[in-house]
Amino acid sequence: MTDRLKIGFTPFNRVGGVLVTFCNDGLKFGPATQKALTPIADLQRRAAAADRFTGKIASTLTIIAPPGLDSPRLVVIGTGKERNLRDRDLVRLGGVAVGGVPAVADEVTILAEFAGGALKAEQIAQLALGARLRAYRFDRYKTKRKEGEEHAEKVELNFACANPTAAERAWRRVEGIADGVMIARDLINEPANVLYPAEFARRAMGLRKLGVAIEVLDVAAMRKLGMGALLGVGQGSGHESKLVVMRWNGGKRGSNPIAFVGKGVCFDTGGISIKPAAGMEDMKGDMAGAACVVGLMHALATRKARVSAVGAIGLVENMPDGKAQRPGDIVTSMSGQTIEVINTDAEGRLVLADVLHYVNKRFKPRFMINLATLTGAIMVALGQEYAGLFSNDDRLVERLEKAGEATRERVWRMPLGPEYDKIIDSKFADMKNTGGRWAGSITAAQFLQRFVGKTPWAHLDIAGTALGSPQTDTNKSWSSGWGVRLLDQLVADYYER
Ligand code: BES
Ligand code: MN
Ligand code: ZN
Repeated sequence: MTDRLKIGFTPFNRVGGVLVTFCNDGLKFGPATQKALTPIADLQRRAAAADRFTGKIASTLTIIAPPGLDSPRLVVIGTGKERNLRDRDLVRLGGVAVGGVPAVADEVTILAEFAGGALKAEQIAQLALGARLRAYRFDRYKTKRKEGEEHAEKVELNFACANPTAAERAWRRVEGIADGVMIARDLINEPANVLYPAEFARRAMGLRKLGVAIEVLDVAAMRKLGMGALLGVGQGSGHESKLVVMRWNGGKRGSNPIAFVGKGVCFDTGGISIKPAAGMEDMKGDMAGAACVVGLMHALATRKARVSAVGAIGLVENMPDGKAQRPGDIVTSMSGQTIEVINTDAEGRLVLADVLHYVNKRFKPRFMINLATLTGAIMVALGQEYAGLFSNDDRLVERLEKAGEATRERVWRMPLGPEYDKIIDSKFADMKNTGGRWAGSITAAQFLQRFVGKTPWAHLDIAGTALGSPQTDTNKSWSSGWGVRLLDQLVADYYER
């Protein structure tokens, strides 16, 4: 689904198809744009007045078949005050550009210039990133196209700019991030009859061609390691559980890696503590954390990030059958700690407990960040705008917050503490897998913390941000692919040598 848009870079004098231009909130164009629009300068002024178009950021003005221009349509996009624009605004404007063009257009030229003049190659790459993300659609299972829903199968999108070669080079570094987001979206949108643990593992193996080392552990291997918590979750499913370990070695030889861990529940029925029917179909996305880790590893490998990173994902299906685990069962995790399973629907923490312990013990990582659609309660607390962030390390928190602001994949820190930890002590085992009704996201995080030792660690509860995401200028998909850009930014800004 990733190549509907063919992105290219051309000089200013080679423009074809639908024309997209930018102006600021004084309705001012850059010099090359002004030149291109000379034949319709007056028409453009009258159209702006008629539409009350003022060049506010992300607003658009469309002129169909402008006489004197060799173009079926002109789309003018407002940038507001062009001096204030940050990278994240450029990504957004790239999305607005694609959104402003009719879906049936198969050729588009964006004049990559603001009122202040030419854009840097890196800025053009950010526009292209936004365009790519906006153009994504998951329509693999649509066999018919309804009237009004037609769209071009292939779109040639060219950025006209001062230095096409430099822009192309900058895009090569960013393209892998866009692809990483779309890989994550595809995995999350895919239904669970297609994407069960073994199939998910197969798709992750696609990263091998980028130089990522991949191991897939099956049930027998995990049993040998003593992963009773993860295996208990998967034992009611006809699909075998898998653990996938991905390694990208771009850092100094022998240096400890950074590590990312994902919850990969390919479908969460709740198990014997079964969920109500309404909305259960969304639980095909309960592997969004794992999908993000795969997308991130793709991004790091394609841009040859100078860092050593491990990605580990626990892949299971939480089903109720004759072999399923029961409330009251006690399982022994790989760490040796025992867990009383009060509610089989609190399964994500059981999976993560073993994967976090395994990664920590085997790789001694500099930090571990896990992502999980872990609790409905995080949506009660934060809605869909921020992911919940829980951490034992203030510096990691600060860095994640900064990367979140830069990418607009934002995180909000939530508390941890011994008072909350007490809530998950069990009568019969070392701990139980649920607390009470209150502070559900926090007790889930406390549970995870019991498996990370002293390693700097952050847990991102993405139940709100990853699924049924609010529609934005850069996302029209049910799954946003949340987290790939956040973590790629974190790595780029703080962990590359
Ligand atoms: N996968 C769910 C959490 C979830 C809910 C994600 C809605 C996305 C959207 C998780 O496994 C779960 O069922 N959590 C329970 C925990 C409870 C049993 C302690 C929940 O949130 O209700
Ligand atoms: Mn559940
Ligand atoms: Zn779940």
